[in-house]
Amino acid sequence: MSYAADSGVCLDRILASTDLSGLSKKDATTFTRRLKEHFPRLFDKYTYVYGHQYDCYFHLQKLVEILRDGLKNRKPALKKLDNERLKNPLWYRDEQQVGMACYVDLMGPTLNDLHDKIPYFKSLGVTYVHLMPLYDAPKGDSDGGYAVSDYRKVNPTLGTVKDLEKLASALQKEGINLVLDFVFNHTSDEHAWAKAALAGEKQFQDYYYLFDDRTIPDQYEHTLREIFPQVRRGSFTFNEQIEKWVWTTFNSFQWDLNYSNPEVFNAITSEMLFLANIGSAALRLDALAFIWKELGTSCENQEKAHVLIQAFNCCLQIVAPAVVFKSEAIVHPDEVLKYIDKDECQLSYNPLLMALLWNSLATRKTRLLTRSMKKSFSISENCTWVNYVRCHDDIGWTFDDAVANELGINAFDHRHFLNQFYTGRFEGSFANGVPFAENPSNGDCRVCGSLASLCGLEGALKSNDSKGIDDAVKRMMLLYGITFSIGGIPLLYSSDEVGKLNDYSYRFDDTKKHDDRWVNRIAVTRADTELALGNTSPANPTETASLHVFNGLRKMIAIRKQNAIFGQSSTQILDADNHHCFAFLRENTQGHKLLVICNFSEHPQTIQRSLLATLKGASSRDLLTDETVEMNASPLLLEPFQQMWLLAN
Ligand code: GLC
Ligand code: GLC
Repeated sequence: MSYAADSGVCLDRILASTDLSGLSKKDATTFTRRLKEHFPRLFDKYTYVYGHQYDCYFHLQKLVEILRDGLKNRKPALKKLDNERLKNPLWYRDEQQVGMACYVDLMGPTLNDLHDKIPYFKSLGVTYVHLMPLYDAPKGDSDGGYAVSDYRKVNPTLGTVKDLEKLASALQKEGINLVLDFVFNHTSDEHAWAKAALAGEKQFQDYYYLFDDRTIPDQYEHTLREIFPQVRRGSFTFNEQIEKWVWTTFNSFQWDLNYSNPEVFNAITSEMLFLANIGSAALRLDALAFIWKELGTSCENQEKAHVLIQAFNCCLQIVAPAVVFKSEAIVHPDEVLKYIDKDECQLSYNPLLMALLWNSLATRKTRLLTRSMKKSFSISENCTWVNYVRCHDDIGWTFDDAVANELGINAFDHRHFLNQFYTGRFEGSFANGVPFAENPSNGDCRVCGSLASLCGLEGALKSNDSKGIDDAVKRMMLLYGITFSIGGIPLLYSSDEVGKLNDYSYRFDDTKKHDDRWVNRIAVTRADTELALGNTSPANPTETASLHVFNGLRKMIAIRKQNAIFGQSSTQILDADNHHCFAFLRENTQGHKLLVICNFSEHPQTIQRSLLATLKGASSRDLLTDETVEMNASPLLLEPFQQMWLLAN
């Protein structure tokens, strides 16, 4: 018998014993219709992971009840949105989409204060706001909120769930989508499940990976990567209270959930639906690469991690089809691609582009960027990249060693160079960054710092170097310009838009000083937004630069939104015939073409006109300057750090 037949019988039986009387007639019809459509896939995934367990079908039945309750609790406005999004499933590929990620306390400082920030978001053109974790979390160090103690409670310092719902609908009214984190690899050690485990309840001890001694942890650790070697060596933490070793991939207070237990899958699905029902348009799947453990492997990117995410995706299709997943896989580029699928994660961060933009800025060379993007940029037309330059985390140099090798670049040495460069230890570097997670065993490290400081603004302001300031601003425009034009949702990291410098105050805070990522978690103050909105005038060089950055970004965003070519069109990475330059072609089904050419060096560069031939027209217009560019004159000149957005006439 085929699995489809199996799943049909199974669904009939489950439905026969599932009480749908709490649902409205309309909801009951929707629910059964969606189950008919998506249950076969869910059944397939679920039984693939849990089928060998005697109680698999019991849990599957329970899961269907969780889904039913999820639909019951979904507000009418969100159900309406479900229908709209089902009719326009590729909304996220639209040129209108521009994202911003921010911490509530650094922007608000409360959820209610964020209502006042809506005009600010709108003045930039932001249509997607990712509020970094705002759930109840341990006091003091909570990994910036990524240690969740209760998914259904907002951190009291920020507000309440009611406030969050109110904000979600206020944003939605203004055409802004709310994006929330789904932190599902781990909970904090203060989550009710962890507390029950600590109290000795066997059922909840099975929610996590607990070991009586080092035997099994030692076996796993042979092949595990250390994520935060600066705070603790290895991936396990000894808990005195229960005298057991707990699997803690990240900080010791972040306990990894045990997804080999179907009860965990069900319980987390229920939490996920709660977040979906608050009114989020997308859920950011935090640390998704780590959710499945397999002895003898790195326990990252395992096949069953994918199957589980697909199963979660089925659940969303049944209850809240307006909601999409965003993958946060900061891993090898080939592995990043595997999460991207209509039935898995429709959106994905693009860590390769991010890292290689910084690489090109340091080296002034684009061959690794060009070669890597040729290999890895193209993804399913049903999905889209989320292109970013900075985020609240560190920069990891996750390029493919094999691609580097092909170009004669020694990956290990090159990463070392990049770390030296961006921490300002390399002579002549313009960057002010901070090393992060230095691993004493292998010398590995990653880099932290704000966009502006890494681009040289901090150093230039300090030395009163006006050309340096100018160059730094141009570097920022160049990096963001590529995220606005290359294809995907550009994601601003709040504080970048006003060019804020590194904030070193974390070094005086006992709950933060061991985690250098705080250097790039920077408040956007009222003074910043007033200046940006033109309500005050710049009073010093720092503010002048800040305003330049804001206005520059705002202008590029406006141009993006006026031209459909930035939305649903293909991207072809080109050879720019000048190794300081990066070029790509956008093309849509109406035959419109856009050629983007970028100069990564502080010197003028020339480009042969043959590149322009890809536009197949007699002339084109640079959308950034509104100047006409003829095709058949002498070589094209690009000023230092200049980019051109050439639309074929
Ligand atoms: C993600 C977050 C990061 C956090 C980690 C553990 O990578 O972006 O800030 O430390 O997950 O939750
Ligand atoms: C590692 C993880 C990534 C996480 C980061 C936090 O790079 O792969 O998921 O965001 O650490 O620093």
